[in-house]
Parts: sequence; C-alpha cells; structure tokens
Amino acid sequence: MSDFVSDFWHWYIAILSIVGIVGCGVLLKMQSTKRLEKGEKAQLHGHVWDEDLTEYNNPLPRWWAWSFYITIIFSLIYLAFYPGLGNFAGRLGWTSANEYQQEIAQANAEYGPLFDKYMKVDIITLAKDPQANAMGQRLFLNYCAQCHGSDAGGAKGFPNLRDRDWLYGGDPASIETTILDGRNGVMPTLVAAIGGETGVMELTHYVRSLSGLKHDATQAAAGKTKFAVCTGCHGADAKGMTAMGAPNLTDAVWLYGSSEETIAETIRHGRNNMMPAQKERLGEAKVHLLAAYVYSLGGGTPPVEKPVVAVAPAAGK
Ligand code: HEC
Ligand code: HEC
Repeated sequence: MSDFVSDFWHWYIAILSIVGIVGCGVLLKMQSTKRLEKGEKAQLHGHVWDEDLTEYNNPLPRWWAWSFYITIIFSLIYLAFYPGLGNFAGRLGWTSANEYQQEIAQANAEYGPLFDKYMKVDIITLAKDPQANAMGQRLFLNYCAQCHGSDAGGAKGFPNLRDRDWLYGGDPASIETTILDGRNGVMPTLVAAIGGETGVMELTHYVRSLSGLKHDATQAAAGKTKFAVCTGCHGADAKGMTAMGAPNLTDAVWLYGSSEETIAETIRHGRNNMMPAQKERLGEAKVHLLAAYVYSLGGGTPPVEKPVVAVAPAAGK
C-alpha cells in the first residue's frame, strides 16, 4: 500500500471507503419503513411495472435489516485491524508478504534439516534411498514434468531422462551440473558449407544410414564426405559429444525424430534448445535431490574420474 506517490490517493480511497460504508448505513435507515401496527394494512408503493405489477410498502424483515447492519459494523472493525483504508496498515500490521514469508520460514525450518542431511549424501547412494526419491519425484512433478513428462520420458525436443542416451552425460556430476546451470544446445545451420539443398538431402540419407534406417546408398555416400563439417561436434564416428551437447546420431534415440523430413529440417535450419538453470530457483539442496531422482530412473552412468591435474610447484620452493 506504500506505492502511492502522494498522499492524495491515500485520502481519496480512505474517505471514499468510509463515506461508502456510512452511506450504506444511512441509506438502510432511511429506507426502513416502520413496522405495521396491528390491523394496519400495508400501502401500495404506487409504482407500476409491466402494465399491472405493483408492490406493497412492507418493511424489510428485521433479521434481514440486522444482517446488513452487522455487515457494516464488521467492515469497520475489519478496516481498523487489517489494511484496506488507503495507506493505513491496520492495527494488526498484517501483510500477505509477511504471511508468505512466515510460511516459507516454517517450511524451511521443517524440511531444511532433511535437505541438509541429503545434501551430504552422494548422488549414487541417494538414488537408492526411497524417501529421498519420493521427495525427488514430487519436486520433479512440480518443476520438470511440464517439459520432460511426468514419467521423464521426454517429448520432441525435450530429452528422455530414463534412457542411457545423454546429450550432456549421465554421470552424477554431469546431471547435477545440467540441472544447476542449465544447458543450451546449439546446432548451427550449415547449408552454405554443405552445398545447399542437395547437401542437406545427402547428409539426411547419410545420417539415416548410420542407424540402419532406410536410405539411398548413393546419396548417403556423397553425404559421408560432407559429414566432415559435422564432426567437430558430433565426432568423427557420429557418436556425439557431451561437451557440445551434440547427440549420438548412430543409435535409435532421437531428440527430434528420425523421419527424413525432420532430420533434413534440423540440418537445414539448425536447432537451438534450452534447459533452464535451476540453481537460483530451487537452490542446491533441491537440485541435489532431483539429480539423484533422475539418476535413479535407470539411465545413470558411473561417475567419471576427474583427471588429476598436476600442480606445478611455485617458483622458489
Ligand atoms: C522449459 C522446459 C524444461 C524444464 C522446465 C526442464 N527442462 Fe530439463 N531440459 C529441457 C531441454 C529442452 C533440454 C535439452 C537441452 C538441449 O538440447 O540442449 C533439457 C535437458 C535436461 C537434461 C539433460 C539430458 C541429457 O540428455 O543430457 C536433464 C538431466 C534435465 N533436463 C533435467 C531436468 C530437471 C531435473 C528439471 C526440473 C528441475 C528440468 N530438466 C526442467 C527442458 C526443460
Ligand atoms: C556446433 C556444433 C554442431 C555442428 C557443427 C553440427 N551439429 Fe548437429 N547438433 C548439434 C547439437 C548441439 C544438437 C542438439 C540440438 C539440441 O539440443 O536441440 C544437434 C542435433 C543434430 C540432429 C538431431 C538429432 C536428433 O536426435 O534429433 C541431427 C540430425 C544433426 N545434429 C545432424 C548434424 C549434421 C548432419 C551436421 C553437419 C552438417 C551437424 N549436425 C553439425 C551440434 C552440432
């Protein structure tokens, strides 16, 4: 409520509200007709609708009138305790932001120690813990399923996380890095470098030949020589490169599809795909649980040994 730039709107709203509420009470009082004395007959209003519809000037039932008065009293009490009158914060000082913060603080106090405990457990061990996986699954359904599917089976353009085919690697550290920092898979359009539309079709047939799909042998052979421009990312053996996020083109797993049309479309226009980073949004503890959950789905691969980096001794020692 402190967003008003001047006091004018505060008073404008506060006065309008009070005038409105008091006005309701005054109107109610003015319109209340007296109870009829015994034997007295109610008068007609004198209004006529639809040719012959008339109305008696009967008083509002008492309980009805009182429920209006109670509403008016309630609104005044409400506005004294809760925010509603312009800038006036209400005597209780309640705000929805505070309430939200309190709920978050309560949830953190409740689940924080559990997350901390799991944070210290390595992903492979955690992936075998049913309670951790149940939490991971709930997080997955909330934050990941809209893209990867509720069973993590993926969809066109959204990778399947259950299989052993990984764009960026299925070892624990790679999965966790993918979720924390996000990924951006870029396949450039290379039409010019491969001789235009002819090259696109030749390479399409070559790519299809790699996984044993129906293809034209002559075109595939021509495509094979042009594949040189692709090896920088997909590798000389076309088995993909996790450092580039370039998929293996020799297996039966497709991110976009194996039809001639789809493969040609990828080669012709390139692709630009995005896995959103979750570090800021979910925090490391939740990502850790999610990584373990994804790992547990069956596609996880053993940890990669980090190469030992030889540190040169500092000069003079
Ligand atoms: C807005 C859609 C979207 C959401 C939400 C999303 N992802 Fe992704 N994710 C993608 C896309 C697209 C890719 C592939 C990126 C690429 O091709 O470079 C991907 C890739 C991945 C990969 C790498 C797969 C591989 O083969 O290497 C993992 C693991 C992953 N996501 C896990 C998650 C988890 C866990 C969540 C929930 C926190 C999540 N994703 C939420 C779209 C999404
Ligand atoms: C700069 C690296 C790079 C180069 C060069 C490159 N690609 Fe790709 N390619 C990728 C990436 C990354 C993806 C995955 C895109 C995504 O995540 O959406 C991809 C995806 C594909 C796909 C889709 C596979 C699927 O599973 O649906 C095909 C087909 C493909 N590339 C063929 C080629 C061919 C043929 C060439 C050479 C003309 C080539 N690529 C050159 C990086 C590259």
